[in-house]
Amino acid sequence: MSSDPAETVSSVDRVMRGRFANRFYLDAPVALETVREIVEVARHAGTGANVQPWHVHLLAGEARASLVAALGAAHETEADAHRAEYTYLPNDLPEPYAARRREFGAVFYGGLGIAPDDHAARARNTARNYRFFDAPVGLIFTIDRRLEKGSFLDLGMFIQNIMLAAGARGLATCAQEFFSRYHAVIRSALSLAPEQMVVCGMSMGFGDPDWAARRPHMPKAAVDEIASFHGF
Ligand SMILES: Cc1cc2nc3c(=O)[nH]c(=O)nc-3n(C[C@H](O)[C@H](O)[C@H](O)COP(=O)(O)O)c2cc1C
Repeated sequence: MSSDPAETVSSVDRVMRGRFANRFYLDAPVALETVREIVEVARHAGTGANVQPWHVHLLAGEARASLVAALGAAHETEADAHRAEYTYLPNDLPEPYAARRREFGAVFYGGLGIAPDDHAARARNTARNYRFFDAPVGLIFTIDRRLEKGSFLDLGMFIQNIMLAAGARGLATCAQEFFSRYHAVIRSALSLAPEQMVVCGMSMGFGDPDWAARRPHMPKAAVDEIASFHGF
């Protein structure tokens, strides 16, 4: 860390503001040492009672390709036979979250030039998830199912640390709950222990700079919408 506090603030803020869900990558490998270093620093995330309930599988090369092939077969031929082991969002999403999700859909598909009623194009785009959006590194995060909701908080801290550590090293990422649906495929491919639940995946690689320059920015709720200040 820089000895100049202003410089540290500016670097950390730049990494946080610069992170976005990147879905377009360059065809350029990421060195094992870099990926290892990212995990090395991310493991310093805080965690209730220091239980560190996370596990991450990092895949590249053949290992990634063979998981992608298995996921592709499942998604393209029998998607309805697969279901996540936990619920990410309720079916009946209350406000203001439902409005934010609608806005996400408009910005997301609008940015890709996909019309709201073009279901085939949407499906083709969704399918890019199982290829880790063509990123060279794929991550799968698991948690021990015997733990409680609190440990999901901890896992989130770890996942965010991975994204920030990657961002600081010039790498782009996209967290992907998509993979939770195909836990059976992943369990078999990675020989997961029965107590390990697939929570989420992530794409990681060098982002396509052209996309970064023209991507739509996801709107974020203003500070006063999400924070209440008391006693200042
Ligand atoms: C835990 C988590 C799971 C996500 N799952 C997916 C996913 O399965 N597929 C996808 O394309 N994006 C996924 N995203 C990306 C979100 O859509 C994205 O973070 C959100 O729209 C905000 O945009 P931003 O990250 O660019 O700020 C996920 C993000 C998080 C934090």
